[in-house]
Amino acid sequence: MTTLTLALSKGRIFDETLPLLAAAGIRPAEDPETSRKLIIGTNRAGVSVVIVRASDVPTYVQYGAADLGVAGKDVLLEHGGEGLYQPVDLEIGRCRMAVATRRGYDWAGTVQRGARIRVATKYVKTAREFFAGKGMHADLIKLYGSMELAPLVGLADVIVDLVSTGNTLKANDLVAVEDVMPISSRLVVNPAALKLKRDLVLPVVEAIAAAVANRRVTA
Ligand code: PRP
Repeated sequence: MTTLTLALSKGRIFDETLPLLAAAGIRPAEDPETSRKLIIGTNRAGVSVVIVRASDVPTYVQYGAADLGVAGKDVLLEHGGEGLYQPVDLEIGRCRMAVATRRGYDWAGTVQRGARIRVATKYVKTAREFFAGKGMHADLIKLYGSMELAPLVGLADVIVDLVSTGNTLKANDLVAVEDVMPISSRLVVNPAALKLKRDLVLPVVEAIAAAVANRRVTA
């Protein structure tokens, strides 16, 4: 029997992907928040969900360990998107990537002077391209989380991070000074799977795309 594997990360992406999967007739048998299982079966024979770190989703799909996945644009840009077909913007996990500084930091003056800045971020590649595009010299410091701490302890002048409600910035006395780009999650597909398992993969992609379009109409 031909099998279909979907790579998802726990939390918001999983929760917001559930209704889209349901539209494709796929219902995971367990909740990854309560189950420790990494491979979760579904109501459909041969269709399973693998639970991976958000930043690992493109890798699983690129190598064909998963046929489909859901990954944020932030993660896809850092990964580079090689070997991935990205047919649908799922319009979930919406937030923005922004430059943030300590309140009172003279960002406008820094940009104007073309001063060299230290930037702490998880998104090194995206940030490097962004500052290069502005003609600014940025020294990038790679972090894996809690970026907001970096300007507070003198590790960096600014951070590039995701902002959703803005509560994390506010709680740490930081302000967003410039938007880098809007972010949302995308459906990613292994191109070989789309070709070789077309009868199985294409209906799922189409049902998800239709559910996204339908939700946009009824919103
Ligand atoms: C993200 C991001 C910010 C926070 C922004 O972190 O890195 O820290 O959410 O959200 P807010 O604007 O609503 O406060 P997340 O909680 O995803 O954890 P992470 O540090 O592992 O990325």
